[in-house]
Amino acid sequence: MPRDASDPLLLTPGPVSVSRSTKEVMLKDRASGGTEFVRDLTLARTYMVALVNGQGAYTAIPLPGSATYANEAVIAGLVPPGGKLLVHTNGVYGDRLIEICSHTGVPHAVIRTAPFTPPTAAQFEAAILADPAITHVMVVHCETSTGVLNPLEEIAAVCRAHTKGLFVDAVASFGAIPIDAPALGLQAITVSSNKCMQGVPGIGWSVVQKTALENNRGNSTALTLDLWDQNQHMDRTNSFRFTPPTQVLAAFAQACREHAAEGGTPARLARYTANWKRLVDGMRQMGFATVVPDANASPIVATFHNPKHPEFSFQKLFEGMQNRGFVIFPGRLALADTFRIGCMGDVHETDMAEAITAVAETMHEMGIPGLGHTDLEQNPINLAHSLSP
Ligand SMILES: Cc1ncc(COP(=O)(O)O)c(C=O)c1O
Repeated sequence: MPRDASDPLLLTPGPVSVSRSTKEVMLKDRASGGTEFVRDLTLARTYMVALVNGQGAYTAIPLPGSATYANEAVIAGLVPPGGKLLVHTNGVYGDRLIEICSHTGVPHAVIRTAPFTPPTAAQFEAAILADPAITHVMVVHCETSTGVLNPLEEIAAVCRAHTKGLFVDAVASFGAIPIDAPALGLQAITVSSNKCMQGVPGIGWSVVQKTALENNRGNSTALTLDLWDQNQHMDRTNSFRFTPPTQVLAAFAQACREHAAEGGTPARLARYTANWKRLVDGMRQMGFATVVPDANASPIVATFHNPKHPEFSFQKLFEGMQNRGFVIFPGRLALADTFRIGCMGDVHETDMAEAITAVAETMHEMGIPGLGHTDLEQNPINLAHSLSP
């Protein structure tokens, strides 16, 4: 049966498609407070902490907004006066962390590495040794603009060895890639309510080490993003300080139940990996080439080169896919012609098989029955700086 093009499956890096049961809990008006609200808030906060093995030592703090709100809350609230943040970037989301530092006036240094390969521990060690003022480090775990998975364990080991606090943007990995916060010594982890957790967008979560939070009491420069204040208020009253996104929270609690029912993080990783493999295999059989080497790729999103065939147009591919009930995404690489297909969300291998058929049909429609050898030659990519904002 053809898919309903007006209710497409989102094969994008976010927002991602979520289950009907998660959407359905939003179909009623929901008050702030009350038994159901408190139950959902408690479940969600407890589950988020448990997912990183943080019981006792960590607290999960939801703020209304997207994941960038959580990143800004962590940067503006957990780097103490006199502190300095080393920000790593190899993509759009690392660049955004730098932008947050500039806007909030947080002293920072930058370590920029090539976009399609992960950084090395030695690069972090050198950056830390070069600047003794650095007190904290922040990295993006899965860089969604390319799909590269950055080596969190190795970076955390360097931070522990040099006693630097480590913050992780796990917006596109939390819930699908295991993170052991106490073992890694993380001070804060930021998460989206959507992405791999498969709730609806609207909450930026921060999972924070309680001692780091307490040590920074009163340091936040923004009232709305004050994690310490939001946390103490929530612990005392089981409510948000300001109007809560009640439907989004209810959907998130349902998403947590479904995450657990699926088998938790390992099961989600296995499903996304199967999606990614099916996608990449199918696309390669048609002649498409991936941008990121498989060894560095996360099973969250795949980035493909636009073929050089004269009849190929991303806009036509996008529209052909949309007409068949799928949404795909353009690339974010300034000097490379690419597009992305996401593997996250309520997406299964059978959906990927159908998406590949939709790509093949759309290519036929474009007058490209098959990609030849010359269509695979890629435009050179400037690795030094190839990311657009
Ligand atoms: C790794 C990463 N960090 C941060 C963000 C920003 O999240 P948001 O757009 O929800 O603010 C995204 C969004 O895709 C992301 O993938």
